[in-house]
Amino acid sequence: MLEQLETQYKDAAAALEQISDSAALAAWERDTLGRGGWLTGMLRGVGQLPAEERAAFGKRANELKVALTGAYEAREELIKAQELARNLEEGQIDVTLPGRPRPTGGLHPSTQTLRQFAHVWADMGFQVFRSREVEDDDTNFTLLNMPPHHPARDMQDTFYTTEPNVILRTHTSPGQIRAMRELGEDGTKPIRVILPGMCYRYEQITARSEIQFHQVEGLAIGRNIRMTDLKGTIAAFARRMFGADAQVRFRASYFPFTEPSMEVDVECFLCHGDGCRVCKYSGWLEICGSGMVHPVVLRNGGYDPSVWSGFAFGFGPERMTMLMHGIEDIRYFWGNDLRFLEQF
Ligand code: DAH
Repeated sequence: MLEQLETQYKDAAAALEQISDSAALAAWERDTLGRGGWLTGMLRGVGQLPAEERAAFGKRANELKVALTGAYEAREELIKAQELARNLEEGQIDVTLPGRPRPTGGLHPSTQTLRQFAHVWADMGFQVFRSREVEDDDTNFTLLNMPPHHPARDMQDTFYTTEPNVILRTHTSPGQIRAMRELGEDGTKPIRVILPGMCYRYEQITARSEIQFHQVEGLAIGRNIRMTDLKGTIAAFARRMFGADAQVRFRASYFPFTEPSMEVDVECFLCHGDGCRVCKYSGWLEICGSGMVHPVVLRNGGYDPSVWSGFAFGFGPERMTMLMHGIEDIRYFWGNDLRFLEQF
């Protein structure tokens, strides 16, 4: 029995010397010193030995257990140190490697222009008023001085719904009526708002026209607002958008909801008036429609036109973005082509 103990001890000690990873070490511990291990088994069997052998065997077995435990602990420490060293080496960081870029999204070019608009108009005291995209025919047309069969309705090919009188707004101007009715407190309060938002027209999609596009409407209502206020305000806006020396000019025009009406041009910011491809050699770029709010519209908004007056304007931010960046096709805006969008 004692002989067997000595042989097994030698084998176990030799096996331990060969072990170089913690999984094998754990297995060795389980088979040797563990509760089911051979040494533990032998110690448990001491009672079955003849009485005269018990003392010597028990003593020797305990000595060997101490020796093996010590060897095991030393081995464990060595393996841990080796594994740590290996880990550190493998996990070493090469700080000279280029970083991995994390893709981040960007703002759509229209959103960027809209935010710039809102910022500049906010500085001039215009708050954002959000109006609805799904409108009724009355607000989109009739209340803006375009009764049924008015010829100006033909200019704005409309998306109708199956619900009578419910349409997609063809411009942001119906928001004028809603702003006056919601903010005007029955025609007693002045208003200064911009109304940005998506508009929809049932049109052939081409490089120059889309079925959806943004507009930024503006509306100022007060007791003494005149055409000079409109001209000065638009000119101030143009200087903020296009630079301190931006020139604007006003051309007489027609819109049913303003009287008088004007279209506003800014001197071409590419050629500074000399004439180029973008301004079609005119030296000017059209930036918005505008005018003094028509008395019919004021009345429909709840204001007495003999006391109150106002001006309104309407910008097309996609058109403006196209001019500013030399974009030649409006279809890029909603084409979701990253090669286009990533340029902004
Ligand atoms: N609603 C017009 C359109 O869609 C743009 C416009 C012109 C708005 C003149 C205005 C304005 O407020 O005064 O073409």
